[in-house]
Amino acid sequence: MTNPVRVGLVGVGIIAGTHLAVLDERPDVRLEFTVDPWRSAPVEFRGSTPPHYGDLVRALDEHRPDLVVLATPTETHAELTSLALLRSTARVLVEKPLVHDSAALATLRELDGKADVRGRVFTAHHFAFSPEVDWAAELHAAHPDWGPVTTITSAFYDPYVLRGAEAFASYVSSWTDSGVNQLSMLTRFVDLTELTSARQTDGGASAWCTVGFRSRGEAGTARLRSSWLTGSSSKESSLVFGRSGVEVWIDHTAMTGFAARGGELIAVFGNDGRTPRKVAHYRPLYASLLSGRPDPVLGFDTAAAITGIHRAVPEAR
Ligand SMILES: NC(=O)c1ccc[n+]([C@@H]2O[C@H](COP(=O)([O-])OP(=O)(O)OC[C@H]3O[C@@H](n4cnc5c(N)ncnc54)[C@H](O)[C@@H]3O)[C@@H](O)[C@H]2O)c1
Repeated sequence: MTNPVRVGLVGVGIIAGTHLAVLDERPDVRLEFTVDPWRSAPVEFRGSTPPHYGDLVRALDEHRPDLVVLATPTETHAELTSLALLRSTARVLVEKPLVHDSAALATLRELDGKADVRGRVFTAHHFAFSPEVDWAAELHAAHPDWGPVTTITSAFYDPYVLRGAEAFASYVSSWTDSGVNQLSMLTRFVDLTELTSARQTDGGASAWCTVGFRSRGEAGTARLRSSWLTGSSSKESSLVFGRSGVEVWIDHTAMTGFAARGGELIAVFGNDGRTPRKVAHYRPLYASLLSGRPDPVLGFDTAAAITGIHRAVPEAR
């Protein structure tokens, strides 16, 4: 039995619950500590309560983690990543998006001489691991006969209008939060090239952006809609293979999909309804991260490339 991976969890809010649920399933990890200045009680994990700290510096003075997980508000990611890189030898899994602006990415890049940024920083692009995305990516790879993807339409809705200012504090804007999920998911199918248009409305609670891509040697366009102006969550994407008339429809909320050509249904995907959606994302994400050969979609270079497109959108506020 090799030594367990010692994990320090920073930020004990909503998504931390999913990290803890998936970490709990893995016999190869141990929760070494938690950090959250706004929470006083330690977290219960496998029947015990690992030490809890009010700030990461104190935690890193006391512990030698192998992995630091940052599940904090988006605007804190870059600073906490720098801190973890410089004050520990741990790898760092940062919640998406890795950074909230281009300057923060430049700051991380500048650390490269002092810390192994490309070898130690990973971004939790969890939508790229969703089962319906996996299914559609395999289908796409198995069908060169369908030709290139010519148009993609993706619409991500979250009920954050109900959370008001708190939503902006945690997630910055709908584009900041959902745009990166849409872009990282699309890397499973096409090579993203550039942002071609961007419009943010509703004070940043909604966005409409278009992104160029290459697919099987041809150029195409992705249309990305996101919004918080709703009472329920709904996320869907459609990939059109214009040359062959095939369309692949994936429902990220239900984790289902189908492919059709005209009136003919040619492939379907469903699930047994037993796995909660976020666990279905983070379970394969952790399996990949801890495999010794992490998927490139988690790596710093992918995060930097996605950031180049994502942060080309002017700030809404
Ligand atoms: N909620 C989701 O469904 C979801 C899904 C995937 C990714 N994410 C990403 O995860 C991040 C956190 O989202 P969330 O929904 O859990 O937010 P949240 O506001 O519920 O939780 C963030 C937690 O971080 C703590 N925190 C703030 N500053 C800190 C600091 N300096 N050190 C330690 N802890 C600190 C807060 O007290 C809070 O408990 C965001 O970047 C978001 O984009 C969220």
